[in-house]
Amino acid sequence: MLTLAIETSCDETSASVLDGVNVLSNIISTQLFHSEFGGVVPEVASREHLKRIIPVTNEALNMAGVNIQDIDLICGTTEPGLVGALLVGANFAKGLSASLGKPFVPVNHIKAHLYSPFISNEMIRLPFLGLIISGGHTLLILVEERFRHRIIGKTIDDAAGEAFDKAAKLLGLGYPGGRLIDELAKDGDPEYHKFPKAVIKNSEFDFSFSGIKTSLLYYLRKSYSGRLPEGEELNGICASYQKAIVEMLYEKTFRAAKKFGVNTIAVSGGVSANSGVRRKFEGMRKEDYIILFPESEYTSDNAAMIGFAGFLEYSSSKDNQPGLSAHARPRIDYKNF
Ligand code: KG4
Ligand code: ZN
Repeated sequence: MLTLAIETSCDETSASVLDGVNVLSNIISTQLFHSEFGGVVPEVASREHLKRIIPVTNEALNMAGVNIQDIDLICGTTEPGLVGALLVGANFAKGLSASLGKPFVPVNHIKAHLYSPFISNEMIRLPFLGLIISGGHTLLILVEERFRHRIIGKTIDDAAGEAFDKAAKLLGLGYPGGRLIDELAKDGDPEYHKFPKAVIKNSEFDFSFSGIKTSLLYYLRKSYSGRLPEGEELNGICASYQKAIVEMLYEKTFRAAKKFGVNTIAVSGGVSANSGVRRKFEGMRKEDYIILFPESEYTSDNAAMIGFAGFLEYSSSKDNQPGLSAHARPRIDYKNF
C-alpha cells in the first residue's frame, strides 16, 4: 500500500512516499531565509509553502519511482502548527485525495513525532514513554496501547527547543539556535557556569524552561555588560546551558519511567538531535532501559513521520479500506490525541 504524506506545519515543506511502513522517499525543503528575521514569519512561510509544495511532491514521487495514480492513501498534517502554513499542505493533500478518489488521513504533528523513533524499526514496543522535544512542544507521553496516549508532563512555559533558540539569540548566534549551541558546547566546559534548574511546585513531571533563559540574560548583563562572549567563554556558556536543559529533561523522564514501570523511552522532535541529550539518555542503556531516537532525517519536521503515523492509524482501524472515501477518518482532537 503506497502512502503520500505532506507536512507544512512550520518552515519545512516536506513530502514523502511510503510503501507500508517503509519510507521510499522523504524530501524536506527548509525555508532557511527566516533566520534573517530571527524566527519564522508565519505569512511568509505560508506563501513559500505554496511555491514549494508541488515541486517537493513531484520530487518525492520521482525519487520513490511511483506515479501519483499509484498512491492508495494520502496523509497530511492538520494540527498543531502555524495556521496559514498548515492550511497550504492540508488543503493540497485533501485536494489530491478528492481528485484521486483516495482516502485522506489527517495527522497530528505531535503524534507523528511521538512515533518517529519507530520508523525503520521492526515494531512499536509497548508500553513506552515518549519524550517529545521540539521548537514548539515539550511533552512526556505514556503509551500503553497504540494510539492511546496519556500526557503525563508538559512544559508550563517555553519548549525545550525554544530555550535553545532564545539563548542563541541572546548570544548573537542566529536562528534556529539549537544546532549552533550544540556545536559550540562540544568544545566547552559544562561546569563553566551553573544555570538554575526549574523546580515546579505540585507538578511532578511538568517542565519549565523560561527561567533558564532569563538567568542567561541576567548573567550576560552582569558578567559581560553589553559585549557578547567569544571563544572559550562562549563554548563554556553553551556547554553549561545545554547541560542544565539536558538534566531537566533526563530527571523528569526517568522519574516518570520508574513511577510507571516503563523501560522503553522514545525521544523525538528537533531537540532529539542534540548530542548532549543523546549521550545522557543513551547512558541509561546500561541500566537496562531501551532508549530509542529517530534517525537524523526524522528528528526535525518531515513528511515521512506524518505518513508513518497516518498509515499506522489507518491500517489499525478495521473500518478503513483504501479507496472507500476521501475523508475516511474524523479530525483528530489534539487534547485527546
Ligand atoms: O521538531 P522541530 O523541527 O520543529 C517543531 O516541531 O518545533 O524542532 C525544531 C527545534 C528548534 O528549536 C531547534 O533549535 C531545535 O529543534 N534543534 C536542536 C538541535 N537541532 C534542532 N536543539 C538542540 N540541539 C540540536 N542539535
Ligand atoms: Zn515538529
